[in-house]
Amino acid sequence: MVEPIRLAIVGCGGMGRRRLAGIAELKRAGEHAVDLVAVCDLNERNAEDLADEAKVLLGARPAVFTDLAAMTRQTDALEAAGCTTDSGSHHRVAADLLALGLHTLCEKPLALTIRGCDRIMAAAERSGKILSVAENYRRDPINRLARALIADGAIGAPQFVMETAVRGRDSVIITPWRRQKLTGTITLDAGVHNADILQYYLGDAVSAFGQTRLYEPTRVVRETAGPGGFYAGWAANLPPTVEATGEDAIFGLITFAAGALGQWVEHHAGHGLPFRHRMLFGTRGSLAVPEDRTGQPIRLTLDDGFDAADERVLDYAPSYRLDRVATALFGEERPWTYDFDFPTTDRKLIALEYAELADCIRTGAAPEVDGATGKRAVALVYALFESHVANRPVTIAEVESGAVDAYQHEIDAHLGLIPKPAGADA
Ligand SMILES: NC(=O)c1ccc[n+]([C@@H]2O[C@H](COP(=O)([O-])OP(=O)(O)OC[C@H]3O[C@@H](n4cnc5c(N)ncnc54)[C@H](O)[C@@H]3O)[C@@H](O)[C@H]2O)c1
Repeated sequence: MVEPIRLAIVGCGGMGRRRLAGIAELKRAGEHAVDLVAVCDLNERNAEDLADEAKVLLGARPAVFTDLAAMTRQTDALEAAGCTTDSGSHHRVAADLLALGLHTLCEKPLALTIRGCDRIMAAAERSGKILSVAENYRRDPINRLARALIADGAIGAPQFVMETAVRGRDSVIITPWRRQKLTGTITLDAGVHNADILQYYLGDAVSAFGQTRLYEPTRVVRETAGPGGFYAGWAANLPPTVEATGEDAIFGLITFAAGALGQWVEHHAGHGLPFRHRMLFGTRGSLAVPEDRTGQPIRLTLDDGFDAADERVLDYAPSYRLDRVATALFGEERPWTYDFDFPTTDRKLIALEYAELADCIRTGAAPEVDGATGKRAVALVYALFESHVANRPVTIAEVESGAVDAYQHEIDAHLGLIPKPAGADA
């Protein structure tokens, strides 16, 4: 029997709790791939609470730490860590975990800026350890099916994707740090998922033209228990309003290397009727893809008269097949729909990330979302911000290389990522 990976969760807030549920889900499915042996948080209360929850869910209480180095030193044979600290600390925490010799599964966005991503990737390179980025949306079976439909030519050659979400009014989404430019504004924090999905479906983007806005600078605390209620414990301590400094809406036109165009609207200050859709048009037909993690079916509409949102869609995706663990978790190898509540779906997708991490560590395989892929999603989001500042379309290469970084400069300076000029300390 292969020994489970000895793992730590670093960052015991809302996502830390969701990741614990994912580990428990994996174990319930009969896949004992990881053992949670340590939890770490600067806020000791959060770490203690997560350890208590782990005792209930997993039957064993992980050791509690507030310091990464002490955790690595004092935990027997620790091999890996999940970095679920707030996004503005990933460039330090994930880089430190890698430098301490731990394989690292870092939450999205890989970092708050391109320089931050580079810092983590360099740490991975130096340590030789695995860096995997937790992009859970693409692991949704419905997104696996959408990609297979596109790759198998169901709609012909892709011409155009419309990715739109307009909702949110003036509410705080989950935590105040998701409202500040310097700590990871919502259009990056949520938008990076969409940037990953767009490139997962259609391949790399090459350029983008964008406009950004901050529509609602005063945000009101309303529904702060967060997705699945995981943040309820912290909600009572939030102030009634939050002054936002980060843009809450991005509007972009994207060109993909393979030729398709994309129109992307991520508007987190939309009033009135909440609106969301993802439509792909090709030379033979279209796909309407449901909201991520809902399990709703894909609608395939073809010029030859085929129009369905049911099992028949599978005939157009012969390559679609979930892997062994996903099949166990979702109950079949080729699901076209599923019916779980949000927390259940959420923990199944997170379980898959740990199953893959364990497999990569044991076999030496590369993770599906490596540092470069995680950075590319961050770059597509920032292409819209940088384009707005430069008032011209920008290439993804310019953003990825740091040649265009005017928007991010203030964040980089805040994070200490701008190198001092030679002799500055003299
Ligand atoms: N994939 C998804 O669907 C999804 C959903 C929500 C959050 N996330 C990501 O997960 C990460 C965490 O988000 P969250 O909502 O849990 O945030 P949060 O604010 O609820 O929790 C962050 C935790 O990290 C701790 N922390 C901060 N700096 C630390 C450090 N240096 N060392 C140890 N602990 C530290 C904080 O004390 C806090 O407990 C973010 O990057 C976010 O984007 C992903």
